[in-house]
Amino acid sequence: MTKTANTMWGGRFAAGPDAIMEAINASIGFDRRMAAQDIAGSRAHAAMLAACGIITDKDAEAIGEGLLTVLSEIEAGDFPFSTALEDIHMNVEARLKDLIGEPAGRLHTARSRNDQVAVDFRLWVRDQCDAVDGALEALMKSLIGQAEAGADWVMPGFTHLQVAQPVTWGHHMMAYVEMFARDRSRFADARVRMNTSPLGAAALAGTSFPIDRHMTAEALGFDRPMSNSLDAVADRDFALEFLASASICAMHLSRLAEELVIWSSAQFRFVKMSDKWSTGSSIMPQKRNPDAAELIRAKIGRIFGANVALMTVMKGLPLTYSKDMQEDKEQTFDAADSLMLALAAMSGMVGDMQANVPSLEAAAATGFSTATDLADWLVRELGLPFRDAHHVTGTLVAMAEAKGADLPDLTLAEMTSVHAGITDAVFGLLGVQNSVASRVSFGGTAPAQVRLRIAEWKEVLG
Ligand code: ARG
Repeated sequence: MTKTANTMWGGRFAAGPDAIMEAINASIGFDRRMAAQDIAGSRAHAAMLAACGIITDKDAEAIGEGLLTVLSEIEAGDFPFSTALEDIHMNVEARLKDLIGEPAGRLHTARSRNDQVAVDFRLWVRDQCDAVDGALEALMKSLIGQAEAGADWVMPGFTHLQVAQPVTWGHHMMAYVEMFARDRSRFADARVRMNTSPLGAAALAGTSFPIDRHMTAEALGFDRPMSNSLDAVADRDFALEFLASASICAMHLSRLAEELVIWSSAQFRFVKMSDKWSTGSSIMPQKRNPDAAELIRAKIGRIFGANVALMTVMKGLPLTYSKDMQEDKEQTFDAADSLMLALAAMSGMVGDMQANVPSLEAAAATGFSTATDLADWLVRELGLPFRDAHHVTGTLVAMAEAKGADLPDLTLAEMTSVHAGITDAVFGLLGVQNSVASRVSFGGTAPAQVRLRIAEWKEVLG
């Protein structure tokens, strides 16, 4: 076949069809990231083949040693990766052959690249679940640190991004701790389901060799071998569960990132991001841009994208393996990298940011944020039905609004003109500190409640 450009393939492919085929077919450019997993899988397989009398102990030993040499070459960065050898599996095997000769050819007995890639990728995704777990724990600790510092700092709680009721800074931080804890448990659940071994399913139907799949499963830290060889080589649901969990976690990260962008604006001034996590503008000297938060918010798109991309790759595939499935890895690698980077950046940013406590408290008092406290008082002290109390309070809010004032700025006479039973006891109640301190229901925003939740989480995280 020709290696020169031709009019049919043309354009950017200044090469013949063989080179184009190589470019579309090869995965070594990205699946080299699974080298360690590939070698671990092959070592377990070789040891099992010897234990089952399928290859000699001597050959298995040569294979096992040779594979370690290959691994050290790859780790040292001087491995001669070859695109012609397509993927990591064939690159490793070819190098093993160079190193140990004939026994290398016995490694692929009772195995196919189909179960090999399935086991490698499972091991890789499993490692990522563990890495994400550690990163999420670090982020939760950063948030708890903020919550502890500001368990009783008052800030506005929002609905519709309108001031709703005063809450505590600690309560807001701990809301994210709950979300990231559920994310952790999603990765942990996914890890349990993915922890079964496809190795030994061979091409798709199993093998006639007397292999021991339980032995390789155990050697690789899996709970058991997968029960159906077709399923073992055909499904990538484990990667999809990782991507789905990553997407939900990314969504949480993006919401927090968005809040940090809003909070650090001149209009809000709720937080000051540390210099480490901000950038200046090349033209406007006054600017401190929350770039890290914005990039976290943006990177989330890649993670959602990977999830949709792999769902789409998989959705129409007849059982079992099709080469389409080679497209599972690059997306998953990128999503995992993006998630780990976003988690690390968020932990750092949250740990370093400084709340502007007076500004939080001042904002908490705006927007008639304690109107509900007044309505609740009317119910509790005067026995009004809540609907009536709501109406009375609404009238008072309108009155204050007309004066361009806030609720506590109304006089007692003005208040009693709306409801005769109101006493000056309400003035204490209308303060934001009082408001948050009163919300002692389980999971409520009162500092006492927040401190209980912080203590519980600290106990869990150790
Ligand atoms: N590089 C391939 C992949 O990632 C390995 C499996 C190849 N199997 C095959 N039957 N061609 O999917």
